[in-house]
Amino acid sequence: MVVGGGGREHAIIKKLKESKEISELYALPGNGGIASDAVCVDIAAVDIDSIVDFAVRNKIDYAVVAPDDPLVLGAVDALGKKGIPCFGPDSKAAIIEGSKVFSKNLMKKYSIPTARYEVFSDMEKALEHLDTAPVPTVIKADGLALGKGVIIAETRDDAKSAVRSMMEERVFGKSGENIVIEEFLTGPEVSVLAFTDGETVVPMVSSMDHKRAYDNDEGPNTGGMGTVAPNPYYTKDVAERCMREIFLPTVRAMKAEGREFRGCLYFGLMITPDGPKVIEYNCRFGDPETQVVLPLLESDLFTVMRAVTDGRLSECEVKFKDRSACCVVMASKGYPVKYEKGYKIEIPEEISDNVFIAGAKLEDGSLVTSGGRVLGATAVADTLEEAVRGAYEFVGRIKFENAFYRGDIGKRALAAKE
Ligand code: AMP
Ligand code: GLY
Repeated sequence: MVVGGGGREHAIIKKLKESKEISELYALPGNGGIASDAVCVDIAAVDIDSIVDFAVRNKIDYAVVAPDDPLVLGAVDALGKKGIPCFGPDSKAAIIEGSKVFSKNLMKKYSIPTARYEVFSDMEKALEHLDTAPVPTVIKADGLALGKGVIIAETRDDAKSAVRSMMEERVFGKSGENIVIEEFLTGPEVSVLAFTDGETVVPMVSSMDHKRAYDNDEGPNTGGMGTVAPNPYYTKDVAERCMREIFLPTVRAMKAEGREFRGCLYFGLMITPDGPKVIEYNCRFGDPETQVVLPLLESDLFTVMRAVTDGRLSECEVKFKDRSACCVVMASKGYPVKYEKGYKIEIPEEISDNVFIAGAKLEDGSLVTSGGRVLGATAVADTLEEAVRGAYEFVGRIKFENAFYRGDIGKRALAAKE
């Protein structure tokens, strides 16, 4: 049983389907595209009681909880109480994403490199701090905010409006009760997803997200408009340093705090002039990172997941293909602000294995758009250049009205390689 219903979950499900040990797969709630690969059950990913009830009634053998909200809300704890083994951290460990104040304090306590910061629960104090803080500065809401809780302010006035919108107007609700104001860092960003059983850490192939809506990294922040893997900025030296200074110290810190993390730990890193630093942790697979990372996984995903759950990751071989992948997200025009839905999607049968559906539903047997990010088209090839070309070739063959996508996914990575 896979909890969730986006492109990431479709990528997880397609990979799990390759495992000989899995005979039946359920997605809660899944989506119109996932329905071709798993039985979709109309239960929301945050409806923990109904998820547990469904799992018990259907004798589910194993559950993968993919999105942040059910993890933070304790889905793994609740399933565990019924004896259902899960992939994903319990709520005590998921706090590493659920609270930025927690994760920043963890990094400070254990000397894990990150941006300098201050925490505020009092708005007046935050505003006063901004009178002298250097700009640009970064304002972050403490709790989950659908990936929108981070504001980079170029001026002190912008910074103050951001603080007011979070702490006074409460645009992110309770998530803005406490805020973090932190130093603005510069450098290329790298996403590293890692399997960990609380002891052993096995980083997956690195990737690069493209968060802004428009070409040349302009426009509003989105959930991610495309990804490539591996990320050329993640050199062997950087990887070794990250393992030593960030990955192992983080996993050990969580254990020392009585919050052993089992699942996929996502490190959002910036390679600054002073070395790699943590921008954010996520307690789950990233989206659309997963749509390039899992297609490169050579090992059986289900075997690896169970090793994570059972604390046997050190005995498990985790192999990635020595190839490259590119995922281009096709969204509805107007995303992430306002967009129309309900348009019919046409995907040629022969490329459907390369398409992960995110926001689409079935209507009278045809797939129609139902979300901002509609799908991701992923190509795997021997070189990054071919993968990028391949992904755009797929995009050219997929049709729906009001489709919108970036034309430059992979461009920065290709330039970096040169
Ligand atoms: P997040 O939602 O935490 O991933 O943040 C969104 C984006 O904001 C990140 O991908 C970075 O590009 C940027 N960001 C977050 N924190 C910082 C920082 N301290 N310095 C510079 N950019 C940042
Ligand atoms: N792509 C960024 C995330 O999953 O949070």
